[in-house]
Amino acid sequence: MFTRRQALQLGVGATAAASSVAIANSLSKQSQLDLTDVGNASLRERAAAKGILYGAAIEWAELSDSGFNQQILQECNILVAENEFKFGRMRPSLDRFDFTASDRLLGFARRHSIPMRGHTLVWHLALPDWFEEQVNRRNAEQVLTNHIQTVAGRYRGQIHSWDVVNEAIEPSDGRRDRLRRTPWLERLGDGYIELAFQAAAAADPEGMLVYNELGLEGNHSDAETRRRKVVELLAGLIDNGVPVHALGIQSHLTGGADYGQFEHLRPFLSDVASLGLQILVTELDVSDQHLPADLQERDRQIATLYHDYLAVLLDEAAVIAVLTWGLSDRYTWLSSHAPRQDGNAVRPLPLDDQLNRKQAWNAIARALDQAPPR
Ligand code: G3I
Repeated sequence: MFTRRQALQLGVGATAAASSVAIANSLSKQSQLDLTDVGNASLRERAAAKGILYGAAIEWAELSDSGFNQQILQECNILVAENEFKFGRMRPSLDRFDFTASDRLLGFARRHSIPMRGHTLVWHLALPDWFEEQVNRRNAEQVLTNHIQTVAGRYRGQIHSWDVVNEAIEPSDGRRDRLRRTPWLERLGDGYIELAFQAAAAADPEGMLVYNELGLEGNHSDAETRRRKVVELLAGLIDNGVPVHALGIQSHLTGGADYGQFEHLRPFLSDVASLGLQILVTELDVSDQHLPADLQERDRQIATLYHDYLAVLLDEAAVIAVLTWGLSDRYTWLSSHAPRQDGNAVRPLPLDDQLNRKQAWNAIARALDQAPPR
């Protein structure tokens, strides 16, 4: 009897071979790529027609912008809080929780019957200032499980899917197991991942429990190492009976990078799906920091990446949702995180800063229209 991990090692060859057929299909699709006007149906309508969810990350402050608010309601049938559900935002002190921000944002989503993701229960960033000195090897397990039990328990049955653990892999940290040296790992060892999923399952038994990761998309050895580790980690959790239901692929793409039209992702997606897991594109955007200044050329390159990426991802039936990390260039983390050297405003998202649909919007619309129905 093979474990899932052993079965995968045997299976990868077969899925890799299968991808050569997909290459022909995909390349033929490229010749059909048409990013002219794709009609008026919203992204949420096009996604829903295929049994897929499309949405975006938002922050509460953005919703007071009525024009933007209207676009969110028009385009999205799933939402995620960019920051309001993070550990640091909810924990003013070791013995207190503050749900003001998370309640407010979830209230908006529920008023409009839009499912909301819970991002994220366990991460090495967005930790409060008191964490370093007040959380130690002795109390870390209690802090972790109490946080998850309290947060996932409060929103039990109200969250579409929880990013239970975010970004636990970092090969450059030098560990043989390629795990990231996070504050949780340093205090609890690698068992913190299983602990987190078990606590989340106990607190929200109906919740979809997701492992979310970055850096998986590239056509190079580092991304391949991360993909292999993700499959190994997920197979190991499943073999140990840990309740994990889906993989979140963050999908922060870099404009101008060579992704080879993403064909290298097909075997990976198939391997994840063969574990019985669903897949979500959780934080999709395309940074234009290294792209030419010319708006038309920039938008064209960004749109082509959106289309090529989603053409491959949505070919995998296990992919159930696509969320962009923001909806409009008016509100993107990349303005501060990856600004352009020339000082021009960045243009990573489907709508421009005047809330007009861009080529990127057309590209997502086209990819959704071409996606096989679920
Ligand atoms: O709200 C405070 C504000 O009161 C204060 O004046 C200001 C200046 O210090 O900071 C504001 O908080 C910032 C917050 O974003 C809201 O804008 C934090 O400093 C800043 O660190 C935080 O950055 C977020 C980052 O995660 C870290 O949590 C980004 O908005 C968010 O886009 C980014 O998202 C992450 C995902 O969660 C995980 N995957 C990678 C992705 C990009 O880094």
